[in-house]
Amino acid sequence: MKLENPSVHAATLEHFWMPFTANRQFKAAPRLLVRAEGMFYWTPEGREVLDGTAGLWCVNAGHSRKPIVEAVQRQAATMDYAPLFNMGHPLAFEAATAVARVAPAGMERVFFTNSGSESADTAIKMAMAYHRARGEPSRRIIIGRERGYHGVNIGGTTVGGIPGNRKAFPAMMTGVDHIRSTHDLARNAFSKGQPEHGAEFADELERLVAFHDPSNIAAVIVEPMAGSAGVLIPPKGYLDRIAATCRKHGILLIFDEVITGFGRLGTPFAAHYFNITPDLLTCAKAINNAAVPMGAVIAKNEVYDTITNAAPEGAIEFLHGYTYSAHPLACAALLATQQLYVDEQLFNRAQAMVPKFEAALHSLKGARHVIDIRNLGIVGGIELEPRAGAVGRRGLEAHIRCFEAGVLVRSTGDILALSPPLIIEEAHIERIVETIRTALAGLE
Ligand SMILES: Cc1ncc(COP(=O)(O)O)c(C=O)c1O
Repeated sequence: MKLENPSVHAATLEHFWMPFTANRQFKAAPRLLVRAEGMFYWTPEGREVLDGTAGLWCVNAGHSRKPIVEAVQRQAATMDYAPLFNMGHPLAFEAATAVARVAPAGMERVFFTNSGSESADTAIKMAMAYHRARGEPSRRIIIGRERGYHGVNIGGTTVGGIPGNRKAFPAMMTGVDHIRSTHDLARNAFSKGQPEHGAEFADELERLVAFHDPSNIAAVIVEPMAGSAGVLIPPKGYLDRIAATCRKHGILLIFDEVITGFGRLGTPFAAHYFNITPDLLTCAKAINNAAVPMGAVIAKNEVYDTITNAAPEGAIEFLHGYTYSAHPLACAALLATQQLYVDEQLFNRAQAMVPKFEAALHSLKGARHVIDIRNLGIVGGIELEPRAGAVGRRGLEAHIRCFEAGVLVRSTGDILALSPPLIIEEAHIERIVETIRTALAGLE
């Protein structure tokens, strides 16, 4: 296949070992992006591509927004880097305050990481440290969920539930178990918003708790809405039951809000949307509009206080941190991003757009190969019938066809995922949906 950009020679592509990519296939026919603004990317030859995925679920305010760009530029010229181990810089504290301001009530302690993966592993360590500080060090087991995604570090991979991501790295962390996923096509296909059936899937947690004994369980980690495994929406009542079981047995509840954080569901966090306050909340991505790598764990004050007060005076209380925790450029981007969210009322805007988004998405019911459509907030999933003997091929081909037609959609297996920037207009929604319809019609 020809290279889209003749200035990119095959030889120049060989050194980069690409993440989560079919390297050989991609390098034979690369899909490159060189510029972005607002709702759009541009390819090297100037072809416009409408961004139906906010990059990777992260550019919620749209691309290359001026206030964010300028804040990063200013900070780079003022102070490029400062250490944060037993040192500080004001932006780190301001950034934590800005996050605490939008976090659920009582969750006002913010630990900065550089990614969602680091946030997951940090939260797991916090959960263990918390129980140790409380005098229950036997609580070490972490319970995840099948089809959950918590990034790619050792903790996140192990508590994650995507078989393909785990199979080459079995049992990297011990003391992990999983509840089943909530996906139930037979009963819930083509649900709008939260599906009706499946609250009882949460009861499996009780079974695992009894099996391991609560005295051995530190935390349960779930995405309130599972994104990466293909947009799996929690059934009505399901998360309440999970939260109640955790509370009953003294188990910490960790919400992985790397995708749902910062407006994706029309609220600051999914915790607000579902009216459930977890004990720890992981986030990243839209925290600073993905302008500079950054993630965070937001902890209940009580978790922070327990760990901190258990250490002797003058001792480091939580022996964990990254060279780039609260990097000044990331903090500058965060402050500008959070201000932009307020100035443009982007979370409310997203909420107002949900009915149009939902209706347009569900108009694809009956389109070729479509066996389910699901949505929540500004997230959509379109599940395609897998091709016999080639699971995932149809999804990838649909993604490529849409890209060639000027729309970026994400494919996970045979599920197409949509998560456009929250500045999306109705005309963009129509263009995304019609491009998918045409792509599917021409796809075997
Ligand atoms: C729910 C969830 N957790 C964790 C991660 C990992 O984040 P990162 O790729 O920034 O490490 C992701 C990434 O998509 C995610 O969706």
